[in-house]
Amino acid sequence: MQTKPTLTTSAGAPVPSNEHSLTAGKRGPVLMQDYQLLEKLAHQNRERIPERTVHAKGWGAQGVFTVTHDISQYTCAKLFSEVGKQTEVLSRWSTVAGEAGAADAERDVRGFSLKFYTEEGNWDMVGNNTPVFFVRDAYKFPDFIHTQKRHPRTNMRSPEAMFDFWAAQPESVHQVTILMSDRGIPKNPMRMNGYGSHTFSMWNAKGERFWVKFHFITQQGHAFYTNEEAEALIGKTRESYQEDLYNAIENGHFPRWTLKIQVMPEADALTVPYNPFDLTKVWPHGDYPLIEVGVLEMNRNPDNYFQMIENAAFSPSNVVPGISFSPDKMLQARVFSYADAHRYRLGTHYEALPANAPKAAKLNHYHKDGAMRFFTNDFGNADAYYEPNQYGGPVADARVQEPPMTIDGDMDRYGNDQLVDDYTQPRALYELFDAGEKERLYANYAQAMGPCSPGVKERWFAVLEKVHPDYAAGVRKACAALDSDVNAVPITSETPTDAEDVNTAPDTV
Ligand code: HEM
Repeated sequence: MQTKPTLTTSAGAPVPSNEHSLTAGKRGPVLMQDYQLLEKLAHQNRERIPERTVHAKGWGAQGVFTVTHDISQYTCAKLFSEVGKQTEVLSRWSTVAGEAGAADAERDVRGFSLKFYTEEGNWDMVGNNTPVFFVRDAYKFPDFIHTQKRHPRTNMRSPEAMFDFWAAQPESVHQVTILMSDRGIPKNPMRMNGYGSHTFSMWNAKGERFWVKFHFITQQGHAFYTNEEAEALIGKTRESYQEDLYNAIENGHFPRWTLKIQVMPEADALTVPYNPFDLTKVWPHGDYPLIEVGVLEMNRNPDNYFQMIENAAFSPSNVVPGISFSPDKMLQARVFSYADAHRYRLGTHYEALPANAPKAAKLNHYHKDGAMRFFTNDFGNADAYYEPNQYGGPVADARVQEPPMTIDGDMDRYGNDQLVDDYTQPRALYELFDAGEKERLYANYAQAMGPCSPGVKERWFAVLEKVHPDYAAGVRKACAALDSDVNAVPITSETPTDAEDVNTAPDTV
C-alpha cells in the first residue's frame, strides 16, 4: 500500500519511475519521449543563479524588530510610531570579497543587511559591520572591488593590487585600520555590530528634517578570531558562521541587537567642522550621542535558504515615508546599483519573490507583464491598467512627499580638497587600541602585506605615518620581521580582504 505522496512532474502528472530511463530495448538507447528525464536534467542545469558581484557568501535569518523608545519627534515612519510596535525582519550577513563558497572566518568587512516589512512598504538597511567605508566616490567602487577579487591573469587574490589601490586613496586608511584590527574577523555574525554607515535622513510629522546614522549594537558582545585561530578553524570547517548562527537559533538562543541612532539637526550640517555626508568619517558620539530606538531579534531559520536568503534583494533604494537619503554621493550611486543588480541576478520581477514581496503593505502599481509575471496584473481592478483613469485606480499621495531639501553649489566634479582630513579619525581609533590590539594590528598587516612589493609597502607606510608615526613604525617592523624569516612567510593567497566598510572609532570617538 502506497503511504508516501506520489512523485509528479512539474506539470503535476504522476511519475512512474525516478530511477529507470525509458529505453529502446534492455540495453538502451534512451527514447526522447522520456520527458521526465529531460525535465530533470534541464532543471539541474538551471539550479544556479549568478552570485552577488560582491557579498556573495552570506548567512541569514528571520525575526522581528520591536520599538522600545519613542522617536516620533524625528520621524513619521510608521514602523517607529509607537513603543511596543513590532515589524517582521529578514537579515543577511556576508563577507564582501569571497565567492559563494568562501570560508566564513576570513578577514574581511562583513555586510549587515536588514529588510523591514513595514506597513508602508519594505525598508532596507544595507550596511556593514563598520561605520565607515574605503572610498567616498562611487567612481572608485568598481576599481576597489577589482582589487579585492581575483587577478585576471593569476586568478589569485592580489595583496599588491589591494595596497596599491589603498595607498593611492588615503581616505581608505580609516576602514583599512578597522579591517586589520580585531574587528576584521568577528567570531560570527552575532558577535558584531551593524551600521548604516552612510548618513541618512528622517523627517517628522511637522516636516522637519534630521540627518541620521544607524547603529545596531550586538547584545551578544564583540568577539573575534586572531589570524591563527581563524586558520585553524577554517582547516576544520569553512561554514563556521552558518553553523553558529543556525544552531543558536535552532536552540532558542536568539541573537539580539539594540538599534540606536545618532541625530543631527538639518542646519548643523553647515556648521560642523567636517562633511557629515562623507562616508569615510564617523560623527563624534560626544556631539551626537546614541539614542536608543528598539531591539532586533532574529529568531527563525529560513525553511529554504535559497528562497529566502539567496533570493533576497536588499537595496538602499527601499525607503519608506519618514526615512530618506542624504547628499552622500556614494549613497545615490547605491540607490541605482542594487536594483539594477537584482534585475540581472534575479529577474525583472524579483520584488515579487517571497523574500522581497511586501508582507505588511498592500501593493498597488501599474507595472505590467514581462518575463515571469506570475502574479496578478490588476490588484483587483482590471480596468485600471493605466493612469490617470476613471476606474478608481491607485493614485499618488502627496502627503508622503519628503520635505524640500536645500541643495546649493555649482555643478562640478569635486575632488578631495586639501582641507579634507583623512587622518584624525583613524589616529583616534589607533590610539584607542591597547598594546595587545596594536601588536595584533601590526601582525595582521604583516601577513596581509607579505607578498607586496617594497614600493607598495613604502607607499602604504607613508599613509600610516600621517596617521601616527608609531602606527607606521609598528607595521614596518612587523613586515620586516616577517620578511627576514622566509619560513614564517604565511600562505596568503586566501588573504581575503575586501572592501567595504569598517566600523570603528565611531563607537569610541
Ligand atoms: C551588495 C554595489 C557600497 C553594503 C552589493 C551588490 C552591489 C553593490 C551591486 C550586490 C547586490 C545584489 O546582487 O543583491 C555597491 C556600490 C557601492 C557599494 C556600487 C558604492 C558606490 C556599499 C557600502 C555598503 C555596502 C558603502 C555598506 C555600508 C553591501 C551589502 C551587500 C552589498 C551588505 C550585500 C547585500 C545582501 O546581503 O544581499 N553592493 N555597494 N555596499 N553591499 Fe554594496
